[in-house]
Amino acid sequence: MGDSLNEFVPAMSEIAREAGALLMDYFRQHVKIEYKGEADLVTVADRSSEKLILERIRARWPDHDIVGEEGGRVETGADYRWYVDPLDGTTNFAHGYPVFCVSLGLTWRGERKAGVLYDPTRDELFAAERGKGAYLNGQQIRVSKTARLNESLVATGFPSYKRHKNPNIFFYHVVTLRSHGVRRAGSAALDLASVASGRYDGFWEFNLNPWDTSAGLLLVEEAGGKVTGFRGQSSAVTDRDVVASNGVIHEELLEAFEQILEGRDLEPLPDPKKYR
Ligand code: IPD
Ligand code: CA
Ligand code: CA
Repeated sequence: MGDSLNEFVPAMSEIAREAGALLMDYFRQHVKIEYKGEADLVTVADRSSEKLILERIRARWPDHDIVGEEGGRVETGADYRWYVDPLDGTTNFAHGYPVFCVSLGLTWRGERKAGVLYDPTRDELFAAERGKGAYLNGQQIRVSKTARLNESLVATGFPSYKRHKNPNIFFYHVVTLRSHGVRRAGSAALDLASVASGRYDGFWEFNLNPWDTSAGLLLVEEAGGKVTGFRGQSSAVTDRDVVASNGVIHEELLEAFEQILEGRDLEPLPDPKKYR
């Protein structure tokens, strides 16, 4: 890894790898699914991974604040604040579909400072620190150079919470027709890592949480990509709606989104009754 990534990344990587190994142990055992909401799943693996990560962070950085998805909190008003997703891709995990990761994001005074994301199914560790580049297993990564949306492979996700109120199916339809395809793999953090490493050219999603995005968005920025809200505004750590890309196709994506939001020139959804 660039020697440059020496402030937080080495210790973060150790923690993420340890949590990833724990997830793999549970994955092999096919753990029981529990529900936080109608289709909002959680498992013993989410909770054990968060417990381990919080113990490690507290032991090493006792004066940092922490926000963990499964409820872990240390809130003292500290400058450093962690956003921990102990298992991003729980639905995949619970169904035995091997697409999930651990995501650790560290912010300083509300700015993304460092991020580590570990995919234990492929042994891939993504890491970035502000101003120091983005790395995959120690090799520097860059976003893709794809110039146009119609040559792009992009990704999105659909929320499990309040999914009936989410308009993303319209975005999915339009961008599918205008690109090489839209993947919906089920881990927003890994989607962002895939933009950072050039596997995807872009990604968007509504209603994410900072534990889904804080590591991944820094990876995209440090890999030379662009990160905004749906209207092109700069993206704060707690913003829920996110567009990330290689930078080159960003305007085209935002234009498509504006068109969709205004209902201009949209290809109508096909009538399913015709297929009876
Ligand atoms: C979910 C995943 C999914 C995204 C959802 C997230 P979880 O996180 O990132 O890809 O579409 O919005 O909630 O619940 O698996 O940690
Ligand atoms: Ca998540
Ligand atoms: Ca999670």
